Amino acid sequence: MDSIFIRTSVRDFEDRVVEPHKIEKLLRAAMAAPSAVNQQPWEFYVVQNPVKLQEIAAASPYAGPVLKAPAAIVPCYDKKRLAAVEYADIDMSAACENILLEAEQQGLGAVWLGIAPIRERMDKVAVAICLPENLAAFAIIPFGYPVGKKAQQDRYDTSRVHYI
Ligand SMILES: Cc1cc2nc3c(=O)[nH]c(=O)nc-3n(C[C@H](O)[C@H](O)[C@H](O)COP(=O)(O)O)c2cc1C
Repeated sequence: MDSIFIRTSVRDFEDRVVEPHKIEKLLRAAMAAPSAVNQQPWEFYVVQNPVKLQEIAAASPYAGPVLKAPAAIVPCYDKKRLAAVEYADIDMSAACENILLEAEQQGLGAVWLGIAPIRERMDKVAVAICLPENLAAFAIIPFGYPVGKKAQQDRYDTSRVHYI
């Protein structure tokens, strides 16, 4: 899959709205992810309101790229829908990676901004987007048309590979 090998984090975006069908494709990719016991604990908030984007950018000292993006996805998990609680973060990570790869596939750029498992940051995002009690914010993924896209470094390192 080419997008795996050309994807890089994008933190600067054109002042251009992303078409709704492309946003839907990002969300379809997220929901196509594998999850433990197929629990699919996710819900996704698409934030396009500039005031709300500013509020979620303030949730983490490293969330500055949100201020340059026309939109961001906040993947959340439903605490009441966890058949395998200990796998929630892992399931959500698989969904986040699918979003990043689908963004690349569509000529968009995106970056995963971590907020979970840092409770304070998760709570700030939850307040900003008025999450119901049962949902926990997992990450922030600003996305849009990229400015200044870099080439991916080849990180393949044979010394990290062990055949038994
Ligand atoms: C769990 C996680 C949290 C991250 N948090 C941030 C963040 O807060 N701010 C940021 O600019 N990038 C963040 N990143 C992106 C990484 O910095 C980036 O993936 C890494 O430097 C490798 O670069 P690449 O994605 O271009 O290959 C995060 C990535 C992951 C997987």
